[in-house]
Amino acid sequence: MQKYLIEQNWADYSEAEHDVWRTLFKRQESVLVNRVVPVFLEGLHYLGVASGNGIPNFKELSKTLRQKTGWEIVAVPGLVPDDAFFELLANRKFPSGCFIRRPDQLDYLQEPDVFHDIFGHVPLLAHPVFADYMQAYGKAGLKALGGGHLHRLARLYWYTVEFGLIQTAEGLRTYGSGIVSSYSETIYCLENPKPNRLKFDLKRVMRTNYRIDDFQETYFVIPNFDVLFNETTQDLEKIYEELDQLSDLSPEDILSKNEQII
Ligand SMILES: [Fe+2]
Repeated sequence: MQKYLIEQNWADYSEAEHDVWRTLFKRQESVLVNRVVPVFLEGLHYLGVASGNGIPNFKELSKTLRQKTGWEIVAVPGLVPDDAFFELLANRKFPSGCFIRRPDQLDYLQEPDVFHDIFGHVPLLAHPVFADYMQAYGKAGLKALGGGHLHRLARLYWYTVEFGLIQTAEGLRTYGSGIVSSYSETIYCLENPKPNRLKFDLKRVMRTNYRIDDFQETYFVIPNFDVLFNETTQDLEKIYEELDQLSDLSPEDILSKNEQII
């Protein structure tokens, strides 16, 4: 996996690039109030991502994160192959892109940039249970390599790490990185009547296709982060076998009213 790692070269960022970070940061900080799970904001401030100095330096960020949960950030040139990605996660290393979007791309970007990867993903890596879940996911991925089940794990990642919602005492909140790094989806996922908000069920999630070109049609809601860790550390082989007998579901499908969160 070493061959996929690069240097962040933090000193090379321009003031204009740091400004894009600061603009995105300010916008997300305000829209996330009462919409994101509180531990996300704690992680954000603890890590100093909120320091206002622009794009964080991965080496400094890793020092703080390592002390808290043993995770660190490593720089990659873009998406890395599945085996390298899983191996990094299994070793508590989170791969982040280095480039930042242009000022005219604040609202939409196809490829994840440093704002998505760091602002979106890193705050929850400071949460002990979520940190363990991410490592367990990497280990599950390594086990599943070559078995033809990676699409099932990809769906789990998509509907939790990227686009997950969580029930809290104060109401429904988001925690998925794809949502928390997007101004419009942060509002849409919680307040728009259109999408389905379904109770998290591992098998259900692993059967459900997703779309990458628009807001999600379905979000899955977890009751807490322990559920993610516990589900991912069970014998997934049995579940893959069971699911091979069942058809896939479209993102907009609802199996019964009982799975809906009102
Ligand atoms: Fe992501």
